[in-house]
Amino acid sequence: MVSTRALRSVIGGSGAALLAATAALVAVTVPSAHAADPPLRDLAAAKGVYMGTALMASELSGTSASIAGTQFDSVTPGNEMKWDTVEPSRGTYNWAPGDSIVTFAQAHDMQVRGHNLVWHSQLPNWLTSGSFSNDELHSILVKHVTDEVTHYKGKVVHWDVVNEPFNEDGTFRQDLWYNQLGVSYIADAFKAARAADPAAKLYLNDYNVEGTGAKSDGMYNLVKSLKQQGVPIDGVGFQAHLILGQVPSTFKANLQRFADLGVDVAITELDVRMQTPSDAGKLQQQANDYAAVVNDCLGVTRCAGITVWGFTDATSWVPSTFPGQGAATLYDENYQPKPAYAAVRTALGGGTTTTPPTSPPTSPPTTPPGGGGGCAVSYGVNQWNTGFTANVTVKNNGSAPVNGWSLKWTFASGQTVTQAWNATVSQSGTAVTATNLSYNGAIPAGGSTSFGFNADWSGGNPAPTGFTLNGTACTVS
Ligand code: G3I
Repeated sequence: MVSTRALRSVIGGSGAALLAATAALVAVTVPSAHAADPPLRDLAAAKGVYMGTALMASELSGTSASIAGTQFDSVTPGNEMKWDTVEPSRGTYNWAPGDSIVTFAQAHDMQVRGHNLVWHSQLPNWLTSGSFSNDELHSILVKHVTDEVTHYKGKVVHWDVVNEPFNEDGTFRQDLWYNQLGVSYIADAFKAARAADPAAKLYLNDYNVEGTGAKSDGMYNLVKSLKQQGVPIDGVGFQAHLILGQVPSTFKANLQRFADLGVDVAITELDVRMQTPSDAGKLQQQANDYAAVVNDCLGVTRCAGITVWGFTDATSWVPSTFPGQGAATLYDENYQPKPAYAAVRTALGGGTTTTPPTSPPTSPPTTPPGGGGGCAVSYGVNQWNTGFTANVTVKNNGSAPVNGWSLKWTFASGQTVTQAWNATVSQSGTAVTATNLSYNGAIPAGGSTSFGFNADWSGGNPAPTGFTLNGTACTVS
């Protein structure tokens, strides 16, 4: 397949001609549900970040390859560059699985995020069951890092050099490396990687470090100390294996404090898991969560990009690790984009009107909530120092359906809406109006619909005190 980036350089153009050509290309390579959308990778590039996905060698053909190569411009091998795959016997290397990912990436004009060089998990038996002196183990580590980075020199842009070195309380994980070599194994791994490929960006990567807290503080102190010692660390990866509705409110501020140490930051393994089965409300919350993470990254100049840990529920790692949970990715098990996909696209600056329709287009807002039962609005906010994400659910308490809706409220403290999903939100001074999109205009009797938006605030951010739905006042919770 010719990539959109390659196409751009071939036709040497921009604007309408490029968009038309891109749309035509996408139309033949991805499922029809989002055939007309600009790919996430192009939206991300326009924002100065990359948009990546984890991919396993088993996904390099068919629909998964088609979507991955079209929508994403960075790929992280799910397992193929880990120690147990790469060096199954001491000193004997198995490059083929990792090479297959690199070949795919090159064919689709994607960059590669190497994952990973040193970790406590997915180590070969010869290493975990061997009995090595400290010096010998140190040599094994340095040789493995050197050989792998050398093999992929010039082909891997970012390396997760050390993965998951922390306990939840911010102390160092008691693993093979730390127990025998002490904390210096981390600096030594980074030095070996730098020597092998001076151009590669070298990252420390971990999970449950997205918000501020003990583990994040541990990582912060380590990065600060590595920088002070002159250890060649370029970035910090925040895996972001998140739980529905639990995007930390301190995520952006936390990214920024690391960036202020003089390193890049990246979201490296994003997914948002939920109790299954999913339903419309959970999928909407998930969309809001994904959008919030994208916005947190975009809000930090040194945030290099975002990688999702698999883009489809069909192959996600979540259900096998967390029984009863899943539906964590942007696409469902049938490779159809979910509301989270649309939310990411919108957060990256794409349009709001091409979300996959779930019902026929409806007429413009006209009818009040039928049957006299009125309406109820729930308004929830995730807030940081200068901005917030709002989730709004509108319930039709009437006995007749609403066909087309317009929800109005006042932002009395000067809050300013910057972007929205699942509604068009316009603002004139303090007056704000949200109207339905083509696919969510109908609210059945007793039913509800949800949308969300991001906004800036300063001074104060009180919740609106009143909402009207098609001119009828709603109760507020
Ligand atoms: O390849 C074998 C197959 O031959 C065998 O039949 C099957 C039976 O269980 O296992 C297959 O290997 C599995 C492998 O994924 C490939 O699918 C392993 O059991 C399984 O443990 C392994 O899981 C990987 C996991 O890391 C291991 O910790 C996931 O795919 C991978 O997505 C996950 O990725 C990690 C990141 O590297 C670090 N951060 C957390 C993230 C999620 O756990």
